[in-house]
Amino acid sequence: MSETTDEQSLASRLPEGGFPPPPELAAQANVGPDVYERADADRVGFWEEQARRLDWVEPWDQALDWSNPPFAKWFVGGKLNVAVNCVDRHVDAGHGDQVAYHWIGEPGDTRTITYAELKDEVCRAANALIELGVQAGDRVAIYLPMIPEAVISMLACARIGAVHMVVFGGFSPDALASRITDADAKVVITADGGYRRGAPSALKPNVDEALTKTEGVRSVLVVKRTEQDVEWTEGRDVWWHDLVTGQSTEHEAEAFDAEHPLYIMYTSGTTAKPKGILHTSGGYLTQVAYSHWAVFDIKPDTDVFWTAADVGWVTGHSYIVYGPLANRATSVMYEGTPETPHRGRWWEIIQEYKVTILYTAPTTIRTFMKWGPEVPAGFDLSSLRLLGSVGEPINPEAWLWYHEHIGGGRCPIMDTWWQTETGAHMITPLPGVTTLKPGSAQRPLPGIAASVVDEEGKPIEPGATGYLVLTEPWPAMLRTIWGDDERYKDTYWSRYGEGVYFAGDGAKLDEDGDIWLLGRVDDVMNVSGHRISTTEVESALVSHPTVAEAAVVGATDATTGQGIVAFVILRGDAVDSGEELVKTLRLHVRKEIGPIASPRQIMVVAELPKTRSGKIMRRLLRDIAENRELGDVTTLTDSSVMDLISSKLPAAPSED
Ligand code: WT7
Repeated sequence: MSETTDEQSLASRLPEGGFPPPPELAAQANVGPDVYERADADRVGFWEEQARRLDWVEPWDQALDWSNPPFAKWFVGGKLNVAVNCVDRHVDAGHGDQVAYHWIGEPGDTRTITYAELKDEVCRAANALIELGVQAGDRVAIYLPMIPEAVISMLACARIGAVHMVVFGGFSPDALASRITDADAKVVITADGGYRRGAPSALKPNVDEALTKTEGVRSVLVVKRTEQDVEWTEGRDVWWHDLVTGQSTEHEAEAFDAEHPLYIMYTSGTTAKPKGILHTSGGYLTQVAYSHWAVFDIKPDTDVFWTAADVGWVTGHSYIVYGPLANRATSVMYEGTPETPHRGRWWEIIQEYKVTILYTAPTTIRTFMKWGPEVPAGFDLSSLRLLGSVGEPINPEAWLWYHEHIGGGRCPIMDTWWQTETGAHMITPLPGVTTLKPGSAQRPLPGIAASVVDEEGKPIEPGATGYLVLTEPWPAMLRTIWGDDERYKDTYWSRYGEGVYFAGDGAKLDEDGDIWLLGRVDDVMNVSGHRISTTEVESALVSHPTVAEAAVVGATDATTGQGIVAFVILRGDAVDSGEELVKTLRLHVRKEIGPIASPRQIMVVAELPKTRSGKIMRRLLRDIAENRELGDVTTLTDSSVMDLISSKLPAAPSED
């Protein structure tokens, strides 16, 4: 099929004027159309109103202190305990028997955890951390599979004021070690392993290896999940079931300052060193709770909410843990991958638990598209009433498929734009208000100020393309990069002047003022909704003894959004063993960073296209990686380099 026919058939399936909110939903939606005007009239007052949805031990005396931008303080003087807000307060209000999580292990084992049980578990874990000597402000690394202990550990930290630093279980020992070093964590919480793709995959050996590369960790708390054999370091390692299970369920929670650090989450930037994004307590919880309630229209008594993501990413932090719990939601938490033991696993879970709201990423939706609509059609998905998307722009084709084959044509889709740094939703429709346009995240969340600007920082005209900026501080914003205030200022706040946050995304504004996100404008790739830095992969490649130079680009990929394509120049003495070398290098990157950073293609080349000033021209490499006609080559030192590279290329890999 030619592209034009595709576009025509797509256009004919888009109702003119978009998809209006379903009338039944709009009639009882948590948030109605008047909200924008209200929030615009008094933005800070609007957030104060949302903060009052939480329990504060001490009220704040100042809602926002922005006297020293870009360092914001929200709810200054206020005190609260984040874990108490997420758990105890619901138990105290008589909801102890409500299910907090329906947890489903990949092999099919399940655990149902009520709010009362969660409270007991969190208190036990809090007492255990105290026994390990953890104090308020200390950093605790969490490297766990998607098991309830991940949530319990995070909340136990929050309860005692320790700062959690969750590292996704797919990261390598090296990546774990560098994060532990940077955050100076004293304790690591891990498991023997977890289940993925039908098999136990080990975690503890990664921790053991990581701890040979970093100092300062005195205790490793280990959950038994897969019963794999583990090495044991006496005096350092302790089993969860030995230390936590016997603890008291009584723990008196202290209230912490609204600006007390809650967690650090590392994310890739444009340099090889990941950035430790710091989130604090009161503002963060206010915005994740509000956005979860408003955007997903959560009805705690009847909804079953499922964010199908890993707690190792910010999506899991904000919308598996803090948002849903703050709103007393009942959530589904699933350990494994969508194709295990069969390709209908998700739909089976939705059918069985009567899930009403599903939140996932475009890359997963496109995978389901490949598997075909007959898979979900075999299950009863009629419980669903609302869908969400996050991680990258959702292409209209995937949006329509999701709408039709998962949502049965009746569920609005919330395309939520946000980042690790923003902590919570920023640009998103509202389900009872917005007429949806597939492919657009549409407008700022009430209380959020955003704009699309040109190179000079001037707002662009409708129809034009520019850069997304956030023009006012927001409650869930990052407070700094851990240990590096200068980098925080340089990365986000230096491009357009004081108080303007540069998100790093390109965007288009349409005639109605709706925002269409266009992807990253920096050297950051988006692979399956995960941010990976080109520089980080390049430095992993050049750390291999055979590689002299490397250039990495993100090439459009029909399933993962972008795929990693690497061009390498070998050292003089290295032998190009073809496929074998490519395999070795791929393994090396997996070892250095983790499987998510494994290049889709690695091409050995004799030279790289460079400008006269020596800058690698990634644009041209991207053209090659995507099999496109080459763009302008006039700034190259030697344009024959491109012919040389092109002539060496294998055909691009096919889609499967
Ligand atoms: C980057 C942030 C937010 C949790 C998941 C990723 C891209 C995210 C959307 C969306 C278009 C999106 C942006 C952003 N992105 N959501 N709905 N539409 N792009 O968090 O790893 O911090 O990545 O993901 O490029 O900058 P992250």
